[in-house]
Amino acid sequence: MRSQYCGEVTQSHEGTEVEVCGWVNRRRDHGGVIFVDLRDREGLLQVVFEPEQREVFQVAESLRSEYVIQIKGMVRARPEGMVNPHIPSGSIEVVVSQLILLNDAKTPPFPLDEHFNIHKDIRLKYRYLDLRRDEMQKNLRFRAKATHILRNYLEEEGFLDIETPMLMKATPEGARDYLVPSRTHPGNFFALPQSPQLFKQMLMIAGMDRYYQVVRCFRDEDLRADRQPEFTQLDLEASFIDETFIQNLMEGLLATLFKEMLDVDITLPLQHMTYHDAMQKYGSDRPDLRIPLVLTDIADVVKNVDFKVFAGPANDPKGRVVALRLPNGQQLSRKMIDDYGSYVSIYGAKGLAYIKVNDRDAGKEGLQSPILKFLPDDVVASILDRCGAQTGDVIFFGADKAKVVNEAMGALRVKLGQDLELFEKPWAPLWVTDFPMFEQADNGRWEPLHHPFTTPQTDDPQELLDNPETMLSRAYDLVLNGIELGGGSIRIHDTKMQQAVFKLLNFTEEQVENKFGFFVEALQYGCPPHGGIALGWDRVIMLLAGLSSIQDVIAFPKTQSAACMLTQAPTQVDVEQLLELGIHVRKPAGE
Ligand code: AMO
Ligand code: AMP
Repeated sequence: MRSQYCGEVTQSHEGTEVEVCGWVNRRRDHGGVIFVDLRDREGLLQVVFEPEQREVFQVAESLRSEYVIQIKGMVRARPEGMVNPHIPSGSIEVVVSQLILLNDAKTPPFPLDEHFNIHKDIRLKYRYLDLRRDEMQKNLRFRAKATHILRNYLEEEGFLDIETPMLMKATPEGARDYLVPSRTHPGNFFALPQSPQLFKQMLMIAGMDRYYQVVRCFRDEDLRADRQPEFTQLDLEASFIDETFIQNLMEGLLATLFKEMLDVDITLPLQHMTYHDAMQKYGSDRPDLRIPLVLTDIADVVKNVDFKVFAGPANDPKGRVVALRLPNGQQLSRKMIDDYGSYVSIYGAKGLAYIKVNDRDAGKEGLQSPILKFLPDDVVASILDRCGAQTGDVIFFGADKAKVVNEAMGALRVKLGQDLELFEKPWAPLWVTDFPMFEQADNGRWEPLHHPFTTPQTDDPQELLDNPETMLSRAYDLVLNGIELGGGSIRIHDTKMQQAVFKLLNFTEEQVENKFGFFVEALQYGCPPHGGIALGWDRVIMLLAGLSSIQDVIAFPKTQSAACMLTQAPTQVDVEQLLELGIHVRKPAGE
């Protein structure tokens, strides 16, 4: 039907005849001549209908936005002054000799080039129209190209693309499962994979040695800009390797992607930071290192002050007191400081004390703060010294349980960085390593920080059982600009160690047998040492493309409430279907 794409017709085709198909982007009538911007995947092409071609001209008069047409015509240079330097076909146009109307179109619910004021839900309901927009076309092509580079890279490294089941038994990754009822086994359910974790480990037991998959994962969890209920992982696993192998492999991949997609050189090897250091300095295990602000511990300095807000957490083993120095923070108005106080309260902080350093050399006189009256002079002086305070700074304080302080002050650090544009560099990738094996939940139980198949930094199961609170794991996260791109670990390949972990996680033998019996058995048939990683592929693409939501790099994403606007899924199903599955649906509360 066509000789090339609209967007591919350029000056070099001048004087030749071309045949192209596409959508009417816009029709303009100019003194008896009709211009149509014809659009396809590769871009726009101006086509001209002249009244001399009477039949063709008549049909052209009926064209509306988004009609689908096929045309044939001669390429000629545009007259002087009509050249559009912004598109590749901007210096030429096609004078149409033949026109076939392939399909008409209803008026779109929103003009494609004015989508900014359109509610996101409307754009998602008509996603196939939204995707026609240049920006979305670019995003999806960007993604396809990156995935192509990824596959080439891993295949060069000897990785095999192997598919794992979608209908399977639940694998714990910390979220709720999406369940699928079985008709053939009434009352039983499959779970959709939260990740292929156990299958990829069994592929290592199977001797596949190096596996990868670009794979859909499903997690029923609270959604955010970088979370979807179904998302894509680059998942991989390798045998007879250590963490350096996985890290080098991922660094090579990142460097290749940055070079080929953005022509950016990233410096290798990447920085490594322990979990402990990340939490101490940034209050987060995915620190955004583009921002130069750091947290400074001051608990030892304020231990003996009367000000309970500080002294309480300073003397609580689970408490933390930190200062966050904002250079030149003096520019912040009182209102802005109050707003930051409200901001940290989202994370559970009960307040946001601060000191404005108006004149560092003027002693207490040079300071301005609602908490000065509660703090002895020598304590204030020590705090200022320790943070390296200078004239013009504001020092913020967080005092509470360490968890609250880390979350609140870590988030404040990033917010200040964004609001005041403190970014020192465009890209800040790093490895975060040496995670604790477990964290204690509010009910006192141990929970895995990564997942229960991560190996501890000991080969002795008894040492793990004796020291669950201090034991570190051989897990590593890849972080970019404050976003967790991926996580992985060296796995347990020893049955006794795996059982020790299950024991610490409070699984009874029966529970282990029910949930993981198949896997514990597999470990006993000659499991090689192995490890791997999974990158959130949507997040990788989002960051590379400079976007702020993974929705923009997914063709048909779900809404914040995990629904599909386009198909209206999830929906109720026929009673017959439920009967067949042996399912009785209770009326949801409130109906
Ligand atoms: P983890 O649970 O850390 O590890 O997941 C790996 C990466 O997947 C991405 N990700 C998500 N992206 C979008 N929406 C979501 N809801 C979502 N949840 C996770 C993140 C994350 O870093 N099996 C292990 C990997 C391993 O140990 O090899 C796993 O799934 O970028
Ligand atoms: P208060 O004594 O509660 O009025 O608090 C005095 C100052 O300390 C105010 O500026 C509060 O914003 C601040 N503040 C209160 N609780 C905390 C906290 N947990 N962490 C940091 N600052 C706080």
